[in-house]
Amino acid sequence: MSGPVENAPLLSVRGLTLTLKGTGVNLVSNVSFDLQRGQVLGVVGESGCGKSVTALSMLRIAHPSIVPSAGEVLFQGEDILKANAHRMRQVRGGEIAMIFQEPMTSLNPVFTVGDQIVEALRAHQSIGRKAARTAAIEMLYHVGIPSPAQRIDVFPHQMSGGMRQRAMIAMALACKPKLLIADEPTTALDVTIQAQIIELLRRLGREFGMAMIIVTHDLGVVADIADDVLIMYAGRVIERCSAADLFRRPRHPYTEGLLRSVPPLDADVERLPTIPGTVPLPHAMPIGCRFADRCPDVRAPCRTLDPPLIRVGSGHLTACIREIDYRAGCGGLK
Ligand SMILES: Nc1ncnc2c1ncn2[C@@H]1O[C@H](COP(=O)(O)OP(=O)(O)OP(=O)(O)O)[C@@H](O)[C@H]1O
Ligand SMILES: [Mg+2]
Repeated sequence: MSGPVENAPLLSVRGLTLTLKGTGVNLVSNVSFDLQRGQVLGVVGESGCGKSVTALSMLRIAHPSIVPSAGEVLFQGEDILKANAHRMRQVRGGEIAMIFQEPMTSLNPVFTVGDQIVEALRAHQSIGRKAARTAAIEMLYHVGIPSPAQRIDVFPHQMSGGMRQRAMIAMALACKPKLLIADEPTTALDVTIQAQIIELLRRLGREFGMAMIIVTHDLGVVADIADDVLIMYAGRVIERCSAADLFRRPRHPYTEGLLRSVPPLDADVERLPTIPGTVPLPHAMPIGCRFADRCPDVRAPCRTLDPPLIRVGSGHLTACIREIDYRAGCGGLK
C-alpha cells in the first residue's frame, strides 16, 4: 500500500512551544522536526536546554504547570496535543512508549517484573493472563535477561541496574510501540553497560521497525545509533541535521563546542561537555542570540538579532548569524 499517508512521517512536531503556566515564560520555543518510521533521532544539549520537557510534553506527561501554548504533535497525522484522555491512554505505552534514566521511575517496587509486563500488555491488548505471561517471558528474553522464565518473578530491587534497565525496556516494548522515546536511557549506568543498552535498543529498533527519539548528553550515543539529530540550546533547536553531517560538518558554534568537548576515549569518564559559561535561564533570556555570551565567534549583531533556523544544506538547518550573513537572499529561510 502506498499513498500520501504511508509516505507521511510517523511523527511531525510543528512549532511546539511550552510555557510555564501563569508566567508567560517559554521553556521551549518553536521546536519542529519530522521522524520517519523506523528512524532514530538523537536530541542533544546541555542540562536545562529543554530536552526532557519536550519529550515529556509529546506524551502529555510533563508537569501540569508546563503547557503547550503553540504548535502540534502530529502522530500518524493525529494531533495528540488535542487527543482526549481515553485516546492518550491508548497512545501512551501502546503506540508510543517512553523509558527514563532511572528505571524505578517506570517500575513499581512492590510488583514483580513479570506482573508489570503482564499488566502493560493487558492494558493495551485483549490477551489472557497466561498468554501475556508467555509474551512477557519472550520479551525478557528479547532484551537479554538470562533465564527469563525464572527472572520474571523477581522484584525490581532484586535486579542489578543494567538488568532493571533491560526490564524497563521489556515493559516499554511489550506492546510493540511504533515509537520509543528514551530520555537519557543510559546515563545512570556504567560505561560498558551503557554500550550494551544502546546496542540492545538499536537491535530492537531494527527488529520491531520501531522509531526512536533518544535524548542524550552523549555524542557517542548519537554516533552509535542516531540517523538524525536535534541540537537544543536554551529551549530552542539551534541545529538539525543527519548524524553524519553533525560529525562531518557541524554549522553552529554551540555544536562545534559540544563536539570539541567530547572526552577522548582514554580520559576519565567526564559526561558533561565543558563549554565555558552556562545556559541562560528561561526567565532571563538575552535579546539576541541565546548563545552569544558563550560563543567564541560572537559578532556585534549577535547581541540584537535572534537568528532564525535556516536551511544550510540538504536536510541541514542551523540558527547562526554566520550563515545568515552569507546565505540570506539565497532563500532557505525556514
Ligand atoms: N516543572 C517545572 N517548573 C518550572 N520549570 C521547569 C520545570 N521543569 C523544567 N523546568 C525548566 O525548564 C527548562 C528545561 O528543563 P529540562 O528538564 O527539559 O532540561 P533538560 O534539557 O532535560 O536537562 P537535563 O539534561 O538536565 O535533563 C529548565 O530551565 C528547567 O529548569
Ligand atoms: Mg532531562
